[in-house]
Amino acid sequence: MKLIRSIEELRAQLRGQNRTAFVPTMGNLHEGHLSLIRLARQHGDPVVTSIFVNPLQFGPGEDFERYPRTLEADLEKLQKENVYVVFAPTERDLYPQAQEYRVQPPGGLGDMLEGEFRPGFFQGVCTVVMKLLLCAQPRVTVFGKKDYQQLMIVREMCKQFAMPTDVIAGETIRDIDGLALSSRNRFLTPEQRVEAPTLHRLLHSVREDILSGRQDIQRIERRVFSTLVDRGWKPDYISVRKQADLRFPTEPDVVEQKLVVLAAARLGSTRLIDNIEI
Ligand code: PAF
Repeated sequence: MKLIRSIEELRAQLRGQNRTAFVPTMGNLHEGHLSLIRLARQHGDPVVTSIFVNPLQFGPGEDFERYPRTLEADLEKLQKENVYVVFAPTERDLYPQAQEYRVQPPGGLGDMLEGEFRPGFFQGVCTVVMKLLLCAQPRVTVFGKKDYQQLMIVREMCKQFAMPTDVIAGETIRDIDGLALSSRNRFLTPEQRVEAPTLHRLLHSVREDILSGRQDIQRIERRVFSTLVDRGWKPDYISVRKQADLRFPTEPDVVEQKLVVLAAARLGSTRLIDNIEI
């Protein structure tokens, strides 16, 4: 396994490879990331991972500074997964000058849900993902469904720019109690860690309600929102959307049931997101 810092070295190392499978990450790797790497291996060879905590996707007052950086431990895990190259540029390597050219996702998809509560987030994600893809030139790129809206936006970006990579989705990996694995879980206090799976349980209850035929979606959403508030959470949103475009479902969509319920909520100082397909 080779650890590479510079864009030039990455290009040289991957020259001639036309089946590269790529997994971009921000490091602090857990089983969720490793499952994406194993999925990447099924779709291409060699497997390349990037580790880069991208400042462009963090807003003022967000957790860029405290985002866990654990390169040594990450490298050990990647070595065991037989990753060919780890691209871990410094900020200066990836952005040698101010990154003034940015990729702006479209208003509808980019401004709703996460885009509403984290303005600029998807512009930062799209810009770095575009740049990483131009550097690694992978045949396939793997993203997790945990970041459902990110996956959809990146997939659409690759389609609209005719980028020569297939975007593949990996399932969310959960702890035994249902909590979706996330690098941010480490910020939870022991008491909050006990409470955290409530988010998944409530999303699951929304799924059950809809599958049982209920169509009063807004009432269901309100019930979950206020349950979270009562339990001490600060929810940003809990919203049932269409899987295809993340727009609000109309009545026939509810009956067809190709929906997804997405949520973001803060528990103490930690913001958790999760979703379940219906
Ligand atoms: O999902 C993430 O970890 C990041 O948003 C990504 C895709 C690596 C871009 O920085």
